[in-house]
Amino acid sequence: MAGGSGTRLWPLSRAQYPKQFLVLQGNRSLFQQAVTRLQGLATADIEVSAPQVVGNEDHRFLVVDQLRELGLEKSSVLLEPMGRNTAPAMTIAALHSAESGADPVLIVTPADQTVTDEPAFKAALQDAVRTAATGAIVILGVTPDRPETGFGYIRSGKGEGSVLSVAQFVEKPKLETAERYLAEGGYYWNSGIFVVRASVWLKALDLFRPDIAGATRTAWAAKSTDATFIRPGKAEFQAIPSESIDYAVMEKCPGGKDFDIRMVPLNAGWSDLGAWDAVWQVSAKDGDGNAAVGDTFVRDSHGTLVHATSRLVGVVGLDNVVVVETPDAVLVTERSRSQEVKHIVGHLSGSG
Ligand code: GDD
Ligand code: MG
Repeated sequence: MAGGSGTRLWPLSRAQYPKQFLVLQGNRSLFQQAVTRLQGLATADIEVSAPQVVGNEDHRFLVVDQLRELGLEKSSVLLEPMGRNTAPAMTIAALHSAESGADPVLIVTPADQTVTDEPAFKAALQDAVRTAATGAIVILGVTPDRPETGFGYIRSGKGEGSVLSVAQFVEKPKLETAERYLAEGGYYWNSGIFVVRASVWLKALDLFRPDIAGATRTAWAAKSTDATFIRPGKAEFQAIPSESIDYAVMEKCPGGKDFDIRMVPLNAGWSDLGAWDAVWQVSAKDGDGNAAVGDTFVRDSHGTLVHATSRLVGVVGLDNVVVVETPDAVLVTERSRSQEVKHIVGHLSGSG
């Protein structure tokens, strides 16, 4: 799923070039890292097909160019005329897979995350695929270390080995609730990676959100296909209610008798690069905790992130700030207030 807008990483992330396509560390974009991680999962009993990318029409050339760099130009690229959040995105991928006549296990992943321990990632995903092959809906849970309110929370139940049952799923709780979860223990963050057979997902959506399921099927039936892209019908897609996978289905499954929902713990240095603070967390730093990219001069400062793209940026005597320079816009903020950067984009687009 590569159709998000990534507004909290402004000014590097822009409407025409959102964060998943940016190279923030190393030499691969977040999107390319996500695709590459999954290609590595093949093993004796697991065959991995070429990826299906669900993205936005506006970013089609970014998607194709970045896939070509990986030698994966045979991928399926499904283009949404506008964002309708992740539930419809996952559903068109499921409908597309179902057309093959097989009922494959889908690994549905965001395109804006990093993982530091690839072998641990691989082992957890392989467990998840084997469990999903039995008909379960599998989510990957990350041990929380702070009461982050931008994530879903999973309360785990009993389990055998690396596969636990799921007692409750709460998407983006209030801060007080998240604090209580951390104090109580037994909760995991939802990594946003879902592993499920295409038919099981479609059945769950049919049950919990027949409106989204029906509208998405209608848009899929009106699709057009050329040599490179598959496009659901535009007017029909626009009519789909906008909703995430988490609210549409995941919150509703636990405790019910209809679906077997399981969680596999993911201890692989997982990080969602949602905002600049998270980019600082995963960046290489000097002895004073400063992370610097590009042409920078940093002195008597601690815990800063300084990112220069076109000019020299000097920072002296500042702690815990983020400075991001681009040719036409500069961001300066306290690191702890990184989440609020989205308001700048809201203001620029006239909605905030
Ligand atoms: N194709 C497509 N279309 N992709 C989308 C759309 C859309 O309309 N909207 C978002 N995406 C992509 C984003 O690019 C991202 O890779 C992924 O789907 C997840 O969307 P986010 O908008 O980043 O979700 P989130 O971070 O608020 O929440 C989700 O991820 C968290 C972990 O990172 C939820 O699943 C949370 O429960 C979870 O904790
Ligand atoms: Mg995200």
